[in-house]
Amino acid sequence: MTDHNATGCSCSGEVKKACTVNRRQFLFASGATTFAVMVAMPTRHGQAEQVPALVSTYPRKLIGKLSELEQDVPVEFYYPDEGDYSDSILVKTGTECGGGIGPQKDVVAFNLTCTHQGGSLYDTYKGEHKVLGPCPLHLSTYDVTRHGILVSGQAYQSLPQVLLELDGDDIYAVGMFGLIYGRYDNLIA
Ligand code: FES
Repeated sequence: MTDHNATGCSCSGEVKKACTVNRRQFLFASGATTFAVMVAMPTRHGQAEQVPALVSTYPRKLIGKLSELEQDVPVEFYYPDEGDYSDSILVKTGTECGGGIGPQKDVVAFNLTCTHQGGSLYDTYKGEHKVLGPCPLHLSTYDVTRHGILVSGQAYQSLPQVLLELDGDDIYAVGMFGLIYGRYDNLIA
């Protein structure tokens, strides 16, 4: 059974309203490959703000097995291709996340290229805080429980989130939420 829960969220109250995307906004059934949606995201000042977000869908790619994931142990993969800036991680956080899949909605995936100036976030996942970062260049840090929103540092865009589907025990990457650094319209390299 396929779980299209790429847009679920653990937040509550105003925060929930501020950081989730309506599932229908992804329009998986539309056949669109790249499109923009307006998304309410919390700002660093704690307020909600409507921002444009780019969503791209690609042929799905098997990236892991739910039963093989260990909490806070990232699994690396490339998506949407194996070109520049496609390094990504899949991680079971143990905490319900925006876009999380699985019974606890705690499995998420993110591109590893900092949106500021392209620094690599390889090996920067911090399980105790559920963040990626700080970026080695200018210290940007991103919250993986809230769609990769920036929590500190120089960047001004969220980290691109890999949209996931669960099919039985198989985890598939199916698209990107946000623009990958160094690419125009998330085109495959
Ligand atoms: S490149 Fe990552 S903070 Fe500047």
